[in-house]
Amino acid sequence: MALDIIPSGEACGAQIRGIDLSRPLDEPTVQAIRSAWLEHHVLAFPGQQLSDDDLERFTLYFGPFGEDPYIAPIPGRDHVIAVRREADETGPIFAETWHSDWSFLSQPPAGTCLYAITIPPRGGDTLFANQHMALDEMPTELRTRLEGRQAIHSARGGYGRAGLYGEGDEGRSMDIRPSDAALATQLHPIIRPHPETGRPALFSTLGYIIGIDGMPEEEAGQLLGEMYRWQTRPEFQYRHKWSEGTLVMWDNRSVLHMASGGYQGHARLLHRTTIGAQPA
Ligand code: SIN
Repeated sequence: MALDIIPSGEACGAQIRGIDLSRPLDEPTVQAIRSAWLEHHVLAFPGQQLSDDDLERFTLYFGPFGEDPYIAPIPGRDHVIAVRREADETGPIFAETWHSDWSFLSQPPAGTCLYAITIPPRGGDTLFANQHMALDEMPTELRTRLEGRQAIHSARGGYGRAGLYGEGDEGRSMDIRPSDAALATQLHPIIRPHPETGRPALFSTLGYIIGIDGMPEEEAGQLLGEMYRWQTRPEFQYRHKWSEGTLVMWDNRSVLHMASGGYQGHARLLHRTTIGAQPA
């Protein structure tokens, strides 16, 4: 099936129109979506009416369900989490820092699906940053210092008991479960080939990355700060503005993303599933 693909005109992202995701998809359509996803990294499907069953079925076309540590699934589901904020919440916005989902796992997820149920009248955009482009255009001097290096990833800053969503995080409507398991660390190459396209990209960023293997802390902090400032530059970004009924799927292997605020006094609710890594 030929998809109606409308590129965002920004550093990544495209809209797919004329497809009803509440119905099962045939194999050629799934393949066409997969190739559009690998090309554009972030796909938005506006105008959908999806149940959680539909969202799960769509997710499973692209891989197994991925793990969602530290956030409990919604009642009655094992693989759907709610990204929720009530109108009167005042704590930090969930995920308002650049990251690649769950990059601290040994097998980080391939992708994420996010379906908009309640969207505020203003604000609440999601930003994406293309990490192939950021690497391609990186100054050689910076790239040379990152080549061959392994980053140390950890969930501690977010999901440890003392983390941003830890025991001091009161009044949050999302069902986040901080734990000492978040203190664990995991190495991943800073520059790595995309497992499906082979195209090299920067993987993850400061936050989930807490150091560089074999490098003194201060030197690593300095280098990671330089990498962060480069990889999140505006020219590598796409800003997604939500409408209710839009499903967005993104590729955690090629983009960073972050939530944004600006909707104080309004509720926001999206259902999220995780596309696990393809078994090797
Ligand atoms: C997320 O990182 O899954 C949340 C993104 C958002 O709320 O915009």
